[in-house]
Amino acid sequence: MNSLSPFTRGWASFVPFIVLLFYCFTPVLTVKHENFKTCDQSGFCKRNRAYADTAEASSNWDSPYNLDPATISLSNGQLTGTVVKTISRTGDSVRLPLTVTFLESGTARVTIDEEKRQKGDIVLRHGSKARKERYNEAERWTITGGLTPNKGAALSSDIQHGATKVHFGPEGKFEAIITHAPFSLDFRRDGTSHILFNSRGLMNVEHWRTKQEAPPEGESSAAEADPAVPPEDESTWWDESFGGNTDSKPRGPESVGLDITFSGYEHVYGIPEHASSMSLKQTRGGDGNYKEPYRMYNSDVFEYELDSPMTLYGAIPFMQAHRKDSTVGVFWLNAAETWVDIVKSRPAVNPLALGVKSTTTTQTHWFSESGLLDVFVFLGPSPQKVVQAYSELTGYSQLPQSFAIGYHQCRWNYVSDEDVMDVARKFDKHNIPFDVLWLDIEYTHEKKYFTFDPMTFPNPQKMTSHLDKHDRKLVAIIDPHIKNVDSYPVVDDLKKKQLAVNNKDGNIYEGWCWPGSSHWVDCFNPAAISWWKGLFKYDKFVGSSPNTFIWNDMNEPSVFNGPETTMPKDNLHHGNWEHRDVHNINGLTFHNATYEALLERKKGEVRRPFVLTRAFSAGSQRVGPMWTGDNQAHWGHLAASIPMTLNNGISGYPFAGADVGGFFGNPSKELLTRWYQAGAFYPFFRAHAHIDTRRREPYVAGSPYTEIMAQALRLRYSLLPAWYTAFREASVAGTPIVRPNFFVHPSDENGFAIDDQLYLGSTGLLAKPVVTEGAESVDIYLGDDETYYDYFDYAIYSGKGYKTVPAPLEKIPLLMQGGHIIPRRDRPRRSSGLMKFDPITLVVVLGKSGDAEGSLYLDDGETFDYQQGAHIHRTFRYEASTGLLTSEDISDRGSKTASYLKSMSHVRVERIVVVGAPSDWKNKESVIISEEGEKESGSRQRSELQFHSGQGGKAAWAVVKDPGLYITKGWKVDFS
Ligand code: NOJ
Repeated sequence: MNSLSPFTRGWASFVPFIVLLFYCFTPVLTVKHENFKTCDQSGFCKRNRAYADTAEASSNWDSPYNLDPATISLSNGQLTGTVVKTISRTGDSVRLPLTVTFLESGTARVTIDEEKRQKGDIVLRHGSKARKERYNEAERWTITGGLTPNKGAALSSDIQHGATKVHFGPEGKFEAIITHAPFSLDFRRDGTSHILFNSRGLMNVEHWRTKQEAPPEGESSAAEADPAVPPEDESTWWDESFGGNTDSKPRGPESVGLDITFSGYEHVYGIPEHASSMSLKQTRGGDGNYKEPYRMYNSDVFEYELDSPMTLYGAIPFMQAHRKDSTVGVFWLNAAETWVDIVKSRPAVNPLALGVKSTTTTQTHWFSESGLLDVFVFLGPSPQKVVQAYSELTGYSQLPQSFAIGYHQCRWNYVSDEDVMDVARKFDKHNIPFDVLWLDIEYTHEKKYFTFDPMTFPNPQKMTSHLDKHDRKLVAIIDPHIKNVDSYPVVDDLKKKQLAVNNKDGNIYEGWCWPGSSHWVDCFNPAAISWWKGLFKYDKFVGSSPNTFIWNDMNEPSVFNGPETTMPKDNLHHGNWEHRDVHNINGLTFHNATYEALLERKKGEVRRPFVLTRAFSAGSQRVGPMWTGDNQAHWGHLAASIPMTLNNGISGYPFAGADVGGFFGNPSKELLTRWYQAGAFYPFFRAHAHIDTRRREPYVAGSPYTEIMAQALRLRYSLLPAWYTAFREASVAGTPIVRPNFFVHPSDENGFAIDDQLYLGSTGLLAKPVVTEGAESVDIYLGDDETYYDYFDYAIYSGKGYKTVPAPLEKIPLLMQGGHIIPRRDRPRRSSGLMKFDPITLVVVLGKSGDAEGSLYLDDGETFDYQQGAHIHRTFRYEASTGLLTSEDISDRGSKTASYLKSMSHVRVERIVVVGAPSDWKNKESVIISEEGEKESGSRQRSELQFHSGQGGKAAWAVVKDPGLYITKGWKVDFS
């Protein structure tokens, strides 16, 4: 007899249904807002916003900053002078040294410092040992080149009254007009204003001052001040508390702020990392706008929310503004907490924007808690020019090892070495390729980095050798917090050598992270970097092997019991810089130290390091990839990953991706499948999952999902030559690896805000991943009048605007823009390493003109030999007028060219596919092949051509099978 009451029985019958519902529906988790400051809770943010409000509300606002004309001089590309700030209440003045440097690239740099602090002529409160200068070393970590001044920069004879004008940039086409009183800057290109500094009078350099203690009751204050000027609100100047932590602020208020106006520009992009749209929103309230400024303060934001200006793990204070056929940008070089307000205005008449269609102007307002005011200005005029100028300064994206752009399989955690080998075997059993298996924190012995748990990972060498059999790699996590425990040589050494971050009193800082009580290695210290390097030697990190690479996590730094989950701002780093000054580049210093360590694991073993980071800043692109942190198994997070990846790419850090499947929660099979299809178009393609989630490797889901995910992975692998070529381009020109519409079509005004579809490198491949449940089709936006073809069945789409493209579960919406030649490797293998010598397929996609062009870059995918010419770089061109497809060498020759080419000499072009083949090829039976060096009349060969006419709106295509051509050689294929 059933012992349940009818009532309970009734409910019991629902239980399986409820359980099912629970598993099918993963609710979106929301961030704990109370753990992070709003602008109102951050003293300097509140003050700078209030300053802006006062300025904007006043009809006769006068910025108190004037450039003293007597101090101005220009020599060797650099203008110097002194800006004087007048304090209205006391009439006192503060001297602020100014430099405006005009660089050879056409970039201009404006810095403002504080004289008293340069001289160390200030007194710190609380007996602090912190440095007295404004932080002036951000450049040291961030900038790697491009600082040569343009000695041709010249003062203009046409000097206006009260202003100084400098001609600079290419052919002197750029101008900087510096108005003296109030101080402001107007950057012009071709006679038109593009970027204005302090035109709204919001510049604010909070100068050093002593704290006036309140006089004893009954006595009046000794300070003489103008009674007509109301006293300033000091409530946020001194010690500041949040969430139970008090920041001692030994230097008091010291923020720097500036309004930067993009005249005639409607769209601004950049300033990652935010889970927001690529075209940035307004932040001062109003319909559809944010109320908070975009914040940049690297933070471990648990369960972050979407469509929000809240800060995330990384910060790149680089912004671009775009309008039809013009792009400009600024880079705010500052490592402290930074916020940016954005407002768009349509001035009634803008005489400066005459002839420019868009009259919308974007007004931005930037402020950082401390440091120099240091801003670079890029006058474009194209998106490529702007990102390239920025990359010239902060470094190009590292060319990774080729395995790094394959597929990475991660979860928290693979629990043992046997587990890792088992996962690898299952991938093989299901014929699913992968390159890397990852180990999260549980592999360590009690969270002590540089150790393997002897119970669960007794034989790490066996595990890495197993992976190596198919040229696969292992990535192990190493975080910056070092467990504070007895008998752990790493922490003993850290303490003994004094290489950790200190607290405000100069004693070693202790906080909590995964291991419990921990200390943090201070990679601002060169001695700490040297020490860190030593820890990765194979005899120190016992169990690691040449195919072991590294993941740096929690490097914001994340401190569980710290203010806003990070370190106190008054902590002290090497050189006694406060953590406040350096917070946003802390992650980069750690990432960089690990990179250097991998370069030196063993004498003579020089391979490109692979180190993933979570925290990042300008410059991190030089080191290794980033990912977007702890997202959720939710459709909204899948959708958000596309603009986030695109935004990173246009911000000079293109090697980016999101956790495939979503970190928190269990994705439905459909969501997981769609995520693999999207992930196949992330530059960094890694699946990852939280420790509480169920296993979800692609083979777990079963039919048809497993097969569909495997197809997505195969697509990625077959396109690896195209991806690698795009990575190469990024590494020399800063070009994004995946590109948004505005970047590819800078004249197409309707597409400037599009951020849910992406172009892969210069291949013309246009993907629009499905990010909604139950989709059967998507609308892809075409930004030009080219002919586009479906990648899989050659269906034709043409004409600007949205096109509906079928997208049943098994299909990735992917088009090929006419006019390109795409290199592929079509043989299915277990890993990218095994494809090294595989033949190439060239897909020639004919454009409206009948022409097509593309390129291929290959090297050993492992060492730095490519820098000495060990690479293949070729351009393929098809011209309708001649009917010739040619392969031309565009590589840089060097001492290692010959031996590399020899090693690749047997790599063939095994197929040429021409999409959109002209109908008169129908009767053509063969093409004529000739190789470089052959006499025109000599041994020319014929190769069969198979023509397929297109049916039902699909393009015709033709195939040349095995033309007997080699990838290292120049050749011609004659289709005429
Ligand atoms: C936080 C990271 O974002 C996540 O990816 C990782 O799994 C956990 N830390 C544990 O290491």
